[in-house]
Amino acid sequence: MIKEETIKNARILIVDDQEANVMLLERLLAATGYTNVMSTTDSRQVLLMFGKFQPDLILLDLNMPHLDGYAVMQQIGPRVAEGEYLPILVLTAEINVEAKQKALTTGAKDFLTKPLDAIEVLLRIRNLLETRYLHLRLQDQKQLLEEEVEEKTRELEQARVEILQKLAMAAEYRDDPTGEHPKRVGELAGILARAAGLPKAQVELIRQAAPLHDVGKIAVSDAILRKPGSLTPDEFEQVKLHASLGARILSGSQVPLLQLAEEIALYHHERWDGSGYASLREQAIPMAARIVAIADTFDVLTHDRPYRAAVSKADALVEVSAQSGRQFDPRLVEAFLKWHKKQDLPKRLRETILAS
Ligand SMILES: [Fe+2]
Repeated sequence: MIKEETIKNARILIVDDQEANVMLLERLLAATGYTNVMSTTDSRQVLLMFGKFQPDLILLDLNMPHLDGYAVMQQIGPRVAEGEYLPILVLTAEINVEAKQKALTTGAKDFLTKPLDAIEVLLRIRNLLETRYLHLRLQDQKQLLEEEVEEKTRELEQARVEILQKLAMAAEYRDDPTGEHPKRVGELAGILARAAGLPKAQVELIRQAAPLHDVGKIAVSDAILRKPGSLTPDEFEQVKLHASLGARILSGSQVPLLQLAEEIALYHHERWDGSGYASLREQAIPMAARIVAIADTFDVLTHDRPYRAAVSKADALVEVSAQSGRQFDPRLVEAFLKWHKKQDLPKRLRETILAS
């Protein structure tokens, strides 16, 4: 139920051109304990008063000079927020069906015929105010629920991102216990995707899916992955399986991010010239996999591995560039080199270029 105090504090606006009617209503409301009442005998003032007073209920006469009750309701209508319940109680001497319908369609919620009966007036007012406050309460609850849903959605999204990061980390744990490599490949793949002019949403998907490219390594034995020295042809075949095994782990999902991750896992060792794991070539290799191939190689080259020391960024770029048209998509190599060149420029110059 609505608290008595709330009802009695409701803002009530009385609009009637007859001073006597206004006074009668004012007295009646005051005697009943209503504390927040405003009134006017000039209906042209209603719009202004409405904005300042923000009434919870309007008692409105229909027949008035200048602006009649219908015109007042038409003025107020657009000021009432969608979904808000603002009760207007129409007071009128006599009303036929047609006028009643017109009033109802213009915003009236209830009618009282003059001469007014005090008890009826008070009961109608209370009913309308209760309805208004129940509406307001529902709206508050709806808003609270919406905020809660938003919060939960954010948490779920955060959990999803973290779970994927941890999965990528688990797969790379033997090579890189810090989990930094998959993260860096993700960032770099995102940068390259943007530099290649892919749409923003696709860039973000690639950034999030790329860290999972080697998830299939989970299924490759320690003895092979951690073997010092070179691998036998048979062992190399075992390593190559990580692409299809990763794709299998990620397969069957309805989620676009995981579908993309599956594609990347399967094809990130394809080569532009067709000499990769599955012998796909050029445009037949999915774009995201072509991007990750470059990001992965560049990151491996520029960071220490148990079997090899890191090379400088400049040397790694020379290597990537040498593989243009062989291992890598030439257009992507070009975009990659261009992006790096921009990074090497002094900060001020880079900002000028980026802004132009
Ligand atoms: Fe790989």
